[in-house]
Amino acid sequence: MPYYRRAGAVPPKRHTQHRSPDGRLYAEELMGEEGFSSDSSLLYHSGLPSALVDARPWELPDQGTTPNQPLLPRHLKLHDLFEGEEWKRTDVVTGRRLVLANGDVRIAYAVAGEPSPLYRNAVGDECVYVEAGSGVLETVFGPLEVGGGDFVVIPRATTHRWLPDTSAGEPLRAYVVEASGHIAPPGKYLSRYGQFLENAPYCERDLRPPGDPVVVEGADVEVYVKHRGRGAAGLTGTVHVLPQHPFDVVGWDGCLYPYAFAVSDFEPITGRVHQPPPVHQVFAGPGFVICAFVPRKVDYHPLSIPVPYYHSNVDSDEVMFYVGGDYEARKGSGIGIGSVSLHPGGHAHGPQPGAVERSLGAEFFDELAVMVDTFRPLELGEGGRAADDGRYAWSWSGRGPAPATGEPAT
Ligand SMILES: [Fe+2]
Repeated sequence: MPYYRRAGAVPPKRHTQHRSPDGRLYAEELMGEEGFSSDSSLLYHSGLPSALVDARPWELPDQGTTPNQPLLPRHLKLHDLFEGEEWKRTDVVTGRRLVLANGDVRIAYAVAGEPSPLYRNAVGDECVYVEAGSGVLETVFGPLEVGGGDFVVIPRATTHRWLPDTSAGEPLRAYVVEASGHIAPPGKYLSRYGQFLENAPYCERDLRPPGDPVVVEGADVEVYVKHRGRGAAGLTGTVHVLPQHPFDVVGWDGCLYPYAFAVSDFEPITGRVHQPPPVHQVFAGPGFVICAFVPRKVDYHPLSIPVPYYHSNVDSDEVMFYVGGDYEARKGSGIGIGSVSLHPGGHAHGPQPGAVERSLGAEFFDELAVMVDTFRPLELGEGGRAADDGRYAWSWSGRGPAPATGEPAT
C-alpha cells in the first residue's frame, strides 16, 4: 500500500518529541511489515501501546477443516448459514463461520447486527467483502464508513471493531478473506515505485482511507487477538485487557492503513474474444488472488462465445461468490445470490448445459461475483459443510449417484 497519507497531529520530523497541549509526550509506534523493510506507518498514542493489565484465552470459533473428498465441485449456500433473526445476536468477529480454508487463506462468512468486540488479527491481513448492509469500521487509524460492494482491507494487527448499521432493519453481510500474510493490489498494476499504472482497472483515487483518528476514553478495555499458536489450523485466541482504550491515537502518517475499495469502481477490461480471469484481478495475497466479475460489455467478435470456455485450473482451487445480477454461465445449476461454487483443481469446469448457446449474441452481462483462487487445495470448514447443497457436482450430467449416496440432480 504505497499511497502516503497523513492524518491528525503529526510532528514535522519523525522520531522527535511530540507533545500534547498540556506538555505530555505522546508515544510513537511504528507499525511496519516485513521487519523494518516494507510499508509502515507511525502512530502517536496518548498512552503506551504496549501496556497490558490482564490476559486470558479466547476460544476461537471452530477452525477445523475436512478435506474435499471425494473430490467434487460444490455449491455452498451461504445464506442458509444464519437463520431468521440470528444476525441480531451475531457480530462480524466472533460470529463468523469458517467456510473454506487451507494453510494460506481462510474464507468465513457472517451475517451480523451486533457491534463486534475490539479485534486484532495478528496472523495476517483481512479483506472483507461487504455483500450487503452498511456500517462503520472503527480502527486505531480512524473510522471508515463501509457499505454493500466494498472490499475492506485491514492490515495485520490493526486494532478495529465492526459496527453494523441496523437502523433499516438489515444486517451487514461480511464475506471474510483471512490471509496468512499481506493482501495488496497485484504487482502487475503498479510501477516499480508503487504507483498504479494506466492499464490498471482501478487506481489511488478509488481507494478510501479512514477519516481522522478519533480518541476514545476508557479503562480496562478488552481486545480480542487472533494469533499463531497450536490450536486447530495453527491458530489461537487471546483476550488482552488494556489499561486504556486502544483508540488513543492523535495522529499518524505512512503507507500502511486500512482502506475500502468499492467494486463498482473496478473498470472491467473487455475484448473481442473472451478475456481470461486475470483481467478481473483485484488483489493478491500469499497463495491466492481475489478477482471481481463486474457488470460489463461482453466479447464483441461476430462469432464470439461470451461465457467462459471449459477450463481446468490445474494449479488452483476456484471459489466464486455470487453477489449480484444473474450469472449467465451457472444458470440451471441452482446457484443464485449468496451462493459459493468451489471448483477444485484436478477437475474441469465450465458453463452449465445450454448456457453457451443462450449466451450467443449477448452484448452485456449483468453479473457480480467475487472470486478467490488458491494455489493449495481448500478444505471445508464447519460452515462450508453445513452450506453444501450436495447436488451441484451432478448438474452438468443431469444425473448422479443412487439416492443412498446422493441425490440425482433434477
Ligand atoms: Fe473458472
